[in-house]
Amino acid sequence: MRTQVAIIGAGPSGLLLGQLLAKHGIDNVILERQTGEYVLGRIRAGVIEKGAADLLDEAGCGTRMHREGLIHDGIEISFGGARHRINFKQLIGKSVIVYGQTEITRDLMDGRSAIGSQTIYEAEDVSLHDIGTDKPKVRYSKGGQVHEIECDFIAGCDGFHGVSRKSIPTDVLKNFERVYPFGWLGILVDKPPVSDELIYANHDRGFALCSMRSPTRSRLYIQCRLDDKVEDWSDEAFYEELKRRLDDEAIKRLQPGPSIEKSIAPLRSFVAEPMRHGRLFLAGDAAHIVPPTGAKGLNLAASDVYYLWQALVDFYKKKSSAGIDAYSARALSRVWKAERFSWWMTSQLHRFPESSGFDQKIQRSELEYLVSSQAAMTALAENYVGLPY
Ligand code: APR
Ligand code: PHB
Repeated sequence: MRTQVAIIGAGPSGLLLGQLLAKHGIDNVILERQTGEYVLGRIRAGVIEKGAADLLDEAGCGTRMHREGLIHDGIEISFGGARHRINFKQLIGKSVIVYGQTEITRDLMDGRSAIGSQTIYEAEDVSLHDIGTDKPKVRYSKGGQVHEIECDFIAGCDGFHGVSRKSIPTDVLKNFERVYPFGWLGILVDKPPVSDELIYANHDRGFALCSMRSPTRSRLYIQCRLDDKVEDWSDEAFYEELKRRLDDEAIKRLQPGPSIEKSIAPLRSFVAEPMRHGRLFLAGDAAHIVPPTGAKGLNLAASDVYYLWQALVDFYKKKSSAGIDAYSARALSRVWKAERFSWWMTSQLHRFPESSGFDQKIQRSELEYLVSSQAAMTALAENYVGLPY
């Protein structure tokens, strides 16, 4: 088989890139290790920046997001028993859309089926070859048979554990990483949200977040220990702990209900540089991970895809390699800014096991400064709604 761009991974990055390329007449095939149902079973954050929303529109897959997504003009930060609103709309005239990442993936999959582009699910043992030449190849097996795809470029959109990043020689790739000493225990529940906007809570017992998927479905998180096990957290214990970390008004509005999903996620900051090697480009979680505080994962994947899509369109339509050559530096410049913001949000809102009395006083004074300074709130707003592409 031959295609112009072979895309590894049918997560949000691979599907969005595939859709944008196809819309501009660039042929592509997606290889995904799992089944479509498995990919749709993953629950992830749900805050969409304007830039990512525009890109979904460009891909022709934004209709349901605009219909069902919730426009949020701000967030609330809670500490010391009180809540403080950061009003994005007033500060910088922008908003975000709260819409589940699972739904975005579904919309992109539907869009791909509608235009008839090919996704090969359950592709096993994917391997990349000749990436240093202008005739790279991808091999995979399916149904006991080995297949080969010849292509011009490979887009590694296969997430943190994928094969693409590992195909770049170790003496070329540099990894930067911070692993945080706690996790997030999250539940999904069919009860209305605690507040109209997201509440990010800093408490002596640890961080909590009240988020949502719709007017009738809540997504709730509490900071937990890294060695905690989901089975050891009953719904009752979860709500007890969440209540300890929220303000009185939030506790009054919290409607506990049976969880329909419960999981623990570790928190990590990670960047691999460069994001290109020869004819292989990394995009999304394959190249970088952010802790979920600030919900930048999908949004960063979208900006990578934007730069890569533009670079490939320039290559095929204008015969220019300039975008391809600039891809890694352009993408990384925005990646590091989002890494900084996610690290900062995480640092200000969580309880670190090793933190001293001094560290805790500094954290509290940073939060007090934040909610009392127009400049500080504007800086948060600008980063939360998303820096320009
Ligand atoms: N071969 C083929 N597919 C693979 C391989 C492989 N060797 N390894 C991983 N994959 C697939 C995974 O099964 C997954 O469906 O690649 C896909 C990667 O998807 P994500 O992990 O979602 O990564 P990405 O698309 O970059 O996501 C960006 O969305 O899902 C969130 O947390 C993610 O916020 C981040 C954003
Ligand atoms: C979520 O709704 O899952 C969510 C929202 C905001 C975050 C992280 C996760 O910062």
